Order: sequence, then C-alpha cells, then structure tokens
Amino acid sequence: MGWRSPLLPLLLLFFSFITLSMGGAKESGLRICAFNVQKFDKVKSSNYRLMHTLLRIVSRCDIALLQEVMDPKAIDALVKSLNRETERYNGYHYKSLSSKSLGNSPSNMQQYVFIYRVETVNVTGQHQYQKKQSFVREPFVVAFQSNRTAINKFILVPLHTEPSQAIQEIDRLYDVCEEVSKKWNNKNVMLLGDFHAGCAYVTRASKKKIRLFSSSKFSSLIGDKVDTTVSDETHCAYDRIIVHGEPLLKAIAPFSANVFNYHKEFKLSRSLALQLSDHLPVEVTLKGSALLLQATPLLILLSVSAVVQSFLSAL
Ligand SMILES: *[C@@H]1O[C@H](CO)[C@@H](O)[C@H](O)[C@H]1NC(C)=O
Ligand SMILES: *[C@@H]1O[C@H](CO)[C@@H](O)[C@H](O)[C@H]1NC(C)=O
Repeated sequence: MGWRSPLLPLLLLFFSFITLSMGGAKESGLRICAFNVQKFDKVKSSNYRLMHTLLRIVSRCDIALLQEVMDPKAIDALVKSLNRETERYNGYHYKSLSSKSLGNSPSNMQQYVFIYRVETVNVTGQHQYQKKQSFVREPFVVAFQSNRTAINKFILVPLHTEPSQAIQEIDRLYDVCEEVSKKWNNKNVMLLGDFHAGCAYVTRASKKKIRLFSSSKFSSLIGDKVDTTVSDETHCAYDRIIVHGEPLLKAIAPFSANVFNYHKEFKLSRSLALQLSDHLPVEVTLKGSALLLQATPLLILLSVSAVVQSFLSAL
C-alpha cells in the first residue's frame, strides 16, 4: 500500500519546505523602486542620519530610481556607503547610472539616477529622450535584463514632471514608450516616478486627456487613493508606476505594488522623515523566474492532503 505509507507525506512536506526556502525573500523576484529624494545634494549626503535612512530604503531594492538628484557627488557618496554597508550583511554590490543634468533653469538642474544590484540585473541599453519642448526633464530610459525575473528583459522610463505641465508630460510618455519599445523591440515598458499625478495637478477629469490613463494598453499599479506624500496635511497619489502590455502586467507579483512608508516602517519622527524628502518611495516586484515557485502551492496542497489521508487511514 504505497500511497498509505507514512513516508510519502513526510517526503512531500520535505519537498515543499525545500521549494519554499528556495523561493525565499532573497531569491524570488526583483524589486523596483522610485523615490523623489527632494533636492538630493551634498548637504543631504553629508548628514549621517539622513544617509542612513536613505541607505535602508535603497538597499531594499534591486533597482532604485532616484529623482531630483542635484549633485553627482552625493550619488558617489551614497553608492560608496551602500557597497560598504551591504557588504556586511547581504553581499550585494551596487552601481549607478545617471542622466545628464536636465532642466530649464540653471538653479534647478536635476538628474535621474538608477542604482542597481550588480548581482541581480544587467543594464543592456540607455537612451536619452531628445524631442525638444516636450518635457522639462526628458526621460532617461534604461533597458535591463535579469535572469531573476520571468519577464527577463524590460525597459524603465523615468519621469519627474514639472508640476504645472504634469498633464501634458504624462500624456507624452505614451510617445516615449512607443519610441523605446520600437528601438529595442521590446514591449515590456514600465513608466515610473513623481508624475504629480494627483490632487490639484491632475484631477479625475483631466485624466481622461492622458493616454497613459485612458488607453487599455497601460495599467496603473499605484492607484488614485494612495498617498505618496510624507506630510499629514496632504493625501495625493503623486508618484506612480504604470506598466505597458499584458505580459509585463502578468509578470508583476500580486499585491507587490505599494508605497513604502519609511516614516512608519523605520519609526522615524515625521520631521526627520521630512528632512529626507516630502515624498514616499513607490515600489513593485517582478515575479521570479523559478518554475519551482509556481509549483509550490500545488506541492503544499498535495502534502497537506497526504498528511490528512495518512491520519484518516491511521484511525
Ligand atoms: C543569473 O545571473 C547571475 C549573475 O550573473 C549568475 O551568477 C547566475 O548563475 C545566473 N543564473 C542562471 C540560472 O543563469
Ligand atoms: C548578466 O549578463 C551575463 C552575460 O550575458 C549573464 O551571464 C548573467 O546571467 C546576467 N545576469 C543576470 C542577473 O541576469
């Protein structure tokens, strides 16, 4: 009576533990984050407490898009301490990839910066969107590849909108998406950043004029009701993550698109949190590539039913 053997449930339990541990937090999927670090400059990067908080935020992510970077030296300092700190506990190494300083006023030039883990992602291409007068800070688009994800190759399009022209700029991301999708022959495009896509800048009615929100080809993962601001007085979904196409949408880990409330998670005072930024990061996880991961629920079900069976037969 092989089926009733007490060994079988034990074996199945053993296997489900193995697959569960293989699919553990570190191995499964790829976390992508976007954070407007409000005027990130040398004053901020030389403040130990702020840097410590920023390190904890960025080191949770396989790829972190930082916006409003005012000084490349501040990024050098951040990457240096990231590599020093994470060396000690998780072994990851980080690199950064920055755009030029973008903007239309010499006193407010900003960079888009991607900080990514060398061990989990490869950069396969980069492209500075050029079309004149389309954006104040034209998207600096980067193509990535990662064997940790089911989707493997994908494109990230960052945007920090100029608040007064948020509607037009978000709408133009549609054209950027088409351009880069054609350029790299890849439809897996994620658009992310501080779009100012809420409150007075982008109302419910004006969303109808934005192709990114009206076209069924795009899915907004951070909803209108989310609050991406630190302050108690504001409740606005400024920061967004939007994906293009069905395959990329299916590659998103369920319920993984969220705001990361560092103020609450790290139990910081609101004033300290506000010193770092007036925004909260948003994040999403791409599903892992392991086939075993998808088999895990089935294995658990099988082993539970086998355990129940063996109990029943023992009665
Ligand atoms: C994925 O890439 C990493 C980093 O290059 C490598 O160490 C690992 O062996 C790769 N895994 C597979 C399954 O190819
Ligand atoms: C990065 O690219 C190299 C060379 O193609 C490949 O061997 C490696 O597995 C890739 N790493 C990841 C994490 O996919």
